[in-house]
Amino acid sequence: MDRLQGKVAVITGGSGGIGLATARRFVAEGAQVVLVDLDEQRLVEAAAELGSTAVSTLAADVSDEAQARAYVAAALQRHGRLDVLFCNAGIEGAIAPITDYPVEMFDRVLAVNVRGVFLGLKHALPVMQRQGGGSIVITSSVAGYKGGAHLSAYAASKHAVVGLMRSAVLETGASGVRINTIHPAPIDTRMMRAIEQGRAPGAEAAAKQVITTRIPAGRYGSADEVAQVALFLASDDSRFCTGGCYPVDGGMSAA
Ligand SMILES: NC(=O)c1ccc[n+]([C@@H]2O[C@H](COP(=O)([O-])OP(=O)(O)OC[C@H]3O[C@@H](n4cnc5c(N)ncnc54)[C@H](O)[C@@H]3O)[C@@H](O)[C@H]2O)c1
Repeated sequence: MDRLQGKVAVITGGSGGIGLATARRFVAEGAQVVLVDLDEQRLVEAAAELGSTAVSTLAADVSDEAQARAYVAAALQRHGRLDVLFCNAGIEGAIAPITDYPVEMFDRVLAVNVRGVFLGLKHALPVMQRQGGGSIVITSSVAGYKGGAHLSAYAASKHAVVGLMRSAVLETGASGVRINTIHPAPIDTRMMRAIEQGRAPGAEAAAKQVITTRIPAGRYGSADEVAQVALFLASDDSRFCTGGCYPVDGGMSAA
């Protein structure tokens, strides 16, 4: 119950499915948590759901540099340090073949999913290096290992964050800062509802069944199952783990 005692964590996408489940785990393990997401009202609801004085919120768009700087500054102002950054905000974008994929949507997916992670690294790394340690966990996806038909921008973005993670590991060396990616299979959150709807409007249950056949475990994961791996990588239990890609996927990447 104290694996994050005394630690300060920022979670982006903090009012979404995986972010909120991770916040619940982090708070239960003693962390002070700053939830970052786009919408103030949803953040307030998420914090109320967690019902802990250890939780505060900040509305910010991770793709904007000033706002990324602001969430790092908020952790420092409120708690004096930053030990864990969970770069988890993400969007699925359009569900369309490359030949029909809207260019503006391609750019937006890369702005949120890639530039957002880059900016988190850019502003959190100096703080963590000064402190002599920290853990950055980035939410990639099985789409960070595999292609995704009709999800090209999303798959490209989730591959790209592996390159960012590996580059950051080489740049931070023996500073004590660790950086890893996690790679969930389909997880039961809003995002999969949107993907099912995009793949088969009006036949979402059938789309879910088809997607599930590609997961050896025979089901979607839960947000909490991802949160438990994020917790491991955030905590000192993983003190020798850096530069790694961690599947949370019921065997999906084995195929
Ligand atoms: N659900 C899945 O099946 C699945 C699988 C693999 C990876 N992922 C990844 O997990 C992460 C979390 O997704 P989720 O499943 O919880 O979905 P979600 O939609 O419930 O949560 C994503 C959150 O990110 C926030 N967000 C979007 N753009 C933002 C921006 N510019 N700035 C700040 N916040 C922003 C959203 O408001 C939302 O609350 C994403 O990076 C997603 O790509 C999800």
